[in-house]
Amino acid sequence: MGYRLTRRGLLSAGSLTAATSLAACASGTTQAAALAEATGAFPPGAPDPLFGPAPGVALLSRNENPYGPSASALAKLREAAEQGAYYVNPEATYTLMKLIAGRHGVEPEQIVITTGSGEALSALALMYGPKGPIVAPRLFWDTTAIYASKLGLASITRVPLTEDMEVDYAGIEAAITPETGMVQLCNPNNPTGLTTPGHIIRPAVARMAEKTTVVVDEAYIELTDDEAGITCLPLLHEGKDVIITRTFSKIYGMAGIRVGYTISSAETAEKIRSTAMSWTPCTSIAAAIGCVDDEAFIAYSKAKITEGRQMVEATLDTLGLPYLKSQANFVYFQSGQPANDLQKAMAAEQISIRGQYMDYAPWSRVSMGKLEDVERFCRALPRLISA
Ligand SMILES: Cc1ncc(COP(=O)(O)O)c(C=O)c1O
Repeated sequence: MGYRLTRRGLLSAGSLTAATSLAACASGTTQAAALAEATGAFPPGAPDPLFGPAPGVALLSRNENPYGPSASALAKLREAAEQGAYYVNPEATYTLMKLIAGRHGVEPEQIVITTGSGEALSALALMYGPKGPIVAPRLFWDTTAIYASKLGLASITRVPLTEDMEVDYAGIEAAITPETGMVQLCNPNNPTGLTTPGHIIRPAVARMAEKTTVVVDEAYIELTDDEAGITCLPLLHEGKDVIITRTFSKIYGMAGIRVGYTISSAETAEKIRSTAMSWTPCTSIAAAIGCVDDEAFIAYSKAKITEGRQMVEATLDTLGLPYLKSQANFVYFQSGQPANDLQKAMAAEQISIRGQYMDYAPWSRVSMGKLEDVERFCRALPRLISA
């Protein structure tokens, strides 16, 4: 189809504005949650390393995957770092677009590479927010919608979850009006970890997309039991007004390297490309090229995360504590203590977990970090909840 990317198109209208603050990257929701994050996520007294967790700190609050980056990513990254004097060649970006498109059975021009999926989601909030409210579940990864709303360019209509903490798709559909800017969904959802199966989410999204643009944030989908059965990708093949966002931060373990992407129609992709704010570094593009098809690493990464999740679930089962059945790299559970209290008690043991989301005080979230760190959490929990 004669698609050509120009250097100008790829290096479009970028500002160096960081789309998400560190606290926000940790899946922030409200200011109170950000405060809880600041006070508990980085335990007091620990030395401040430049990168990664301080020695002795079990970092289980930010849904990172410590098993990455893969050797395949690092090899390419080093190669690119040697050429760090130069702006990214469009050929490198296009190579990554082609590789990603090949994985998803779409055309390269349907892919937009961004500096983490957070940038893509921020760009989408800025594109669609000014038209009208972003309709979303009450709990979702709302950092980017909040970013646009802080700029006065969006508002959020939050639709309550069901009693089981599931996304209420009928409720969201009913909340759509002619003024709606876009619908934003997250599958699996964060912080609940709950995953909606394809036979439920696809028809719901298809109906919503008749009325407005639907963004489906699939940041954690590669970690689920049935990625192909759950993804909303088939709706793109049907020409629906759907935009999917994905990331290299989770399954590929590259949160600090910053690569994400959108999958949409080519027409929509062109609009997103001109709205995205930053220029993804050559090292990031290179790392993604290195690992995108590294099936052995993907399987390894998923196995480690699943093992951690099973350890946490076994602990919660033994303690009789309620939790949501997650398919992602975190578990949302009730300890019997307010989330911020448990966060502080864990922080005193140099274990970093998430504090409270919105008014969900009884719910805590723990991420699947290194297995030895998950084990520390599992050993500390019984002691701390009976203290
Ligand atoms: C659901 C969800 N989407 C998107 C992001 C943004 O991730 P990134 O910008 O690293 O791709 C996160 C970060 O934790 C997330 O939880």
